[in-house]
Amino acid sequence: MTFAVLLFCVFFALSVEGKPLAEGEPTCGYEACPKVGSDTFNVHLIPHSHDDVGWLKTPDQYYFQDVQNIISSVVDALKQNPERRFVQVETAFFQKWWEQQKPYTREALQKLVNNGQFEFINAAWSMNDEAAVHYQSTIDQFTLGLRYIQDNLGKCARPKVAWQIDPFGHSREQASISAHMGFDSMFFARLDYRDKNRRLDNRSMDLLWRGSANLGNTSDIFTSVLYRHYSAPPNFCFDIVCNDAAINDDPESPDYNLEERVGEFADFVREQAKHYPTNNILVTMGDDFRYEAAMTTYMNLDLLIKGFETFEQKVDDKRIKVLYSTPSCYTKAVHDYVNSNNQALELKTDDFFPYADGPNTYWTGYFTSRPASKHFERQGNNLLQVVKQVAANLQQPYDREEMTELKEAVGVMQHHDAITGTEKQHVAKNYHFLLSRAMKSANDFVGAQLSIFISRDAFDFEFDSCLLANVSSCDKTNSDRFTLVVYNPLSHTTTTTVMLPVYERTSWKITDPDGNSVDYQIDSSLTDFTYVEDATTSANTVQFAAKDLPPHGYKVYQFEATKKEETGKPSPRRVVGYDNASFEISEQTGLLEAVTLNGIRVEVSQDFQYYESQDSSGAYIFVPQGQEAKRIASGPITTTLVTGNVSQGVLQEFGSWARQFIKVYKDDQSFIEFDWIIGPIDISDNVGKEVVTKFTTPLKNNGEFYTDSNGREFIKRTRNHRPDYDYSDEQPVSGNYYPVNNRIAIRDDDQKIELAIITDRSQGGSSLNDGEVELMVHRACQHDDGRGVGENLNEQEFGQGIKVRGKHYLVVGPTSGQEKKSLAAIEREIAQRKTVTPWFFVSNKDATGALNQLQHSGLKSDLPENVHLLTLEPWDDDTVLLRLEHVLEKGEDDNLSKDVTVDLSDLFTFFTINELQETTLGANMLLEENVRMHWPGSSDDGSQKVKDVTDLKVTLPPMEIRTFVAKITYNPL
Ligand SMILES: *[C@@H]1O[C@H](CO)[C@@H](O)[C@H](O)[C@H]1NC(C)=O
Ligand SMILES: *[C@@H]1O[C@H](CO)[C@@H](O)[C@H](O)[C@H]1NC(C)=O
Ligand SMILES: *[C@@H]1O[C@H](CO)[C@@H](O)[C@H](O)[C@H]1NC(C)=O
Ligand SMILES: [Zn+2]
Repeated sequence: MTFAVLLFCVFFALSVEGKPLAEGEPTCGYEACPKVGSDTFNVHLIPHSHDDVGWLKTPDQYYFQDVQNIISSVVDALKQNPERRFVQVETAFFQKWWEQQKPYTREALQKLVNNGQFEFINAAWSMNDEAAVHYQSTIDQFTLGLRYIQDNLGKCARPKVAWQIDPFGHSREQASISAHMGFDSMFFARLDYRDKNRRLDNRSMDLLWRGSANLGNTSDIFTSVLYRHYSAPPNFCFDIVCNDAAINDDPESPDYNLEERVGEFADFVREQAKHYPTNNILVTMGDDFRYEAAMTTYMNLDLLIKGFETFEQKVDDKRIKVLYSTPSCYTKAVHDYVNSNNQALELKTDDFFPYADGPNTYWTGYFTSRPASKHFERQGNNLLQVVKQVAANLQQPYDREEMTELKEAVGVMQHHDAITGTEKQHVAKNYHFLLSRAMKSANDFVGAQLSIFISRDAFDFEFDSCLLANVSSCDKTNSDRFTLVVYNPLSHTTTTTVMLPVYERTSWKITDPDGNSVDYQIDSSLTDFTYVEDATTSANTVQFAAKDLPPHGYKVYQFEATKKEETGKPSPRRVVGYDNASFEISEQTGLLEAVTLNGIRVEVSQDFQYYESQDSSGAYIFVPQGQEAKRIASGPITTTLVTGNVSQGVLQEFGSWARQFIKVYKDDQSFIEFDWIIGPIDISDNVGKEVVTKFTTPLKNNGEFYTDSNGREFIKRTRNHRPDYDYSDEQPVSGNYYPVNNRIAIRDDDQKIELAIITDRSQGGSSLNDGEVELMVHRACQHDDGRGVGENLNEQEFGQGIKVRGKHYLVVGPTSGQEKKSLAAIEREIAQRKTVTPWFFVSNKDATGALNQLQHSGLKSDLPENVHLLTLEPWDDDTVLLRLEHVLEKGEDDNLSKDVTVDLSDLFTFFTINELQETTLGANMLLEENVRMHWPGSSDDGSQKVKDVTDLKVTLPPMEIRTFVAKITYNPL
């Protein structure tokens, strides 16, 4: 235990036992807001510092060079004047600072929290991106940050505001998540310039945003768009890094300027006031990494505020009152105004993607930038879910260091310059280092836990997660015998295809937990991976179907090399696959020609193409030259049949830097898999390239397609159209790109056929012509796009441009008339199991005598098909955190889109639940304490359901997530 942790314990003991540390009762929350009049025009000054958890510098560089000074100097400045306020956002940084502080500084901060001067807003681990994140990770990283604040500073520190001021466009799911965490408002700055102009003209910069098409007005959140990004008004930056004239209120001084400065500020206020609907405006007083010497700004603001008391200035007939405030106090003021005037705000029901900050500059490149990072982050989340489940089942404390380290690393990855790929190269390396170190220790922790369980003894298998299996490398499988544990983190029994590199030995005996031999297949690896340095790569991959893996459970498989058997060469065939899933390859071109799935045959071709980048294309922005993508392959491509006992497929070579397997699995015939590798992108002609996979069909989707919002609800997109503002299509390609987190689909309503592509990471995607779906898989740009990162995006690895491997899963079928399950339900099921997938642990230790528990299930039965256990993790002594979600939307499936009830009384193997306490989504507040503001125009559309829990039975309407702290008793093993 470190010194810092020890201090924390001492402090915590104090605050739990006695009264709060501050004298008097805390008056935090809305009660602590400055009084604003209805007869004045109120200008809410918001002192804030935007502290990126990595971007141009690594998170630690920012912390030690900047952020620790910022928080310390703000605390000093706030103590000088009780009117002064500050909002603190990123908990990754706050935690570091708090751990460093002595008890008296902590006490001082607690007082400032309790009287409302120091307010936490957002307070997630980082300010997450909204385009490339998956909702599970967003929720997790909020849970982590909110809990830290709650544990250390109590209820007064509980945030009420979502503060997403820098992300590059905004997802509807983020609004929904914010609302369900109990937040009353959301603030941001970046939206399409035409949307912003319209909102400015129509005074709809303050609006009401409905975050869900399924959850009624529980997902409504008051949203305010910042006026001038998040900076201070021009000429009013008083930070030490700025040179604007300080305010001088000494009338004897030749530099006296108070009255003039008040006048200038009043002009700014009058201009801004024209664009907002009430007698309140919010003025951000801050920027990136400001307030390192907080006193300079606060002293000037003190004078400015006083100046407005001396010199009368007006907006229309109302006197301007300038005050220190916070976003929550602004929300309260607007709320009171619109309610007393019964003035409904404009209602928004879609999202704020894509973001263009001017003509031709669409921030749609970052949907794909650094694709290997984007996948690595998903793996981090995948392992984190496994670790949390195993820890909860095997009675590990919630603050197990290895688990916390991984939660934090995944939390950092959600930051809007991390998962986005918009950071400098050295920062990207630092993120990868932090995540891989955390994954390594989490692997060791969970591996040791599983070892004890499997061996029923202290045997340690020394399991490895084989994270480089994608480049055909795993030390532990380079052996005559090895043991594989396949852990299934899903809430349903599932079958997965195991794919692992194997070295030299081409004949194996694979034994499942019941002692049966398993069919397997050995294929050549997708490509020659010997370019990967410091790894022993193999030319072969073994694959087999791990069948019927139990939910929250595992199966152990044993591998033993045997004598070589000869296998005959497969003969070429046009149709590849099985009865329920097959595809056809064109004899002329070597490309895909048609697929048969779900009882229908659809013509589908697929090809890899690229756009040539303009100079303005970079890490953030995508600007192609012209609208036509060029093929990577110049003519017909080489296609080789690759078949065996497990799968049927082909290997396609599109030239020197693109190839893929197209495959169908015998035991999993619900999709066609595309396992591709792209790179190094050939930019020897000095032209950047942005590579897409393009699927072409004869389907008529009438310019409409669907993309998911952070992996949850589908949003309909219409080509060259925006629901909220007049759209000019000066960029027909990049202006039609949307973030795809796990699924993009087109529908032919006449033929009643849908085609969907499910992804293994976030990517940009679109349907630019009817019948087409394209996804951008990789990019290399030759220029910086001038949005701050100051580097061109051209990732190098092993002395060449980076290679990226990934998977797409194609699903096609009738949109109705399915007997068992709708196509939407099938797609969601695949997306679910490709996001949090069964995890492989490999050991080559001699395990003789240690293989005692070869399979186990953490759930006594599968959950209903439409329910997923989103979260299971240790919470406190004898409690676990549970999140249950309904995974379908209304109307997606006749049977599965109905309300569903889950009985938790006898579900878990390792423990019994005694009591459930329902909380808000972030788990930092009991649901019964959650009182949200009401807004005129927000009304229940009938989709709200009574939220009671009887006899541990939980009912979920479509798309609902319910969060519980469950009191449990562990069962004897
Ligand atoms: C202007 O805002 C009002 C609500 O504030 C809304 O009803 C109306 O549709 C908006 N008009 C335009 C042109 O956007
Ligand atoms: C393979 O996976 C590792 C870990 O996620 C990643 O760092 C690497 O870039 C991947 N390689 C390819 C070719 O995608
Ligand atoms: C939702 O509507 C109900 C009544 O229809 C209202 O009582 C509630 O306050 C509304 N919620 C919000 C967030 O405005
Ligand atoms: Zn930022």
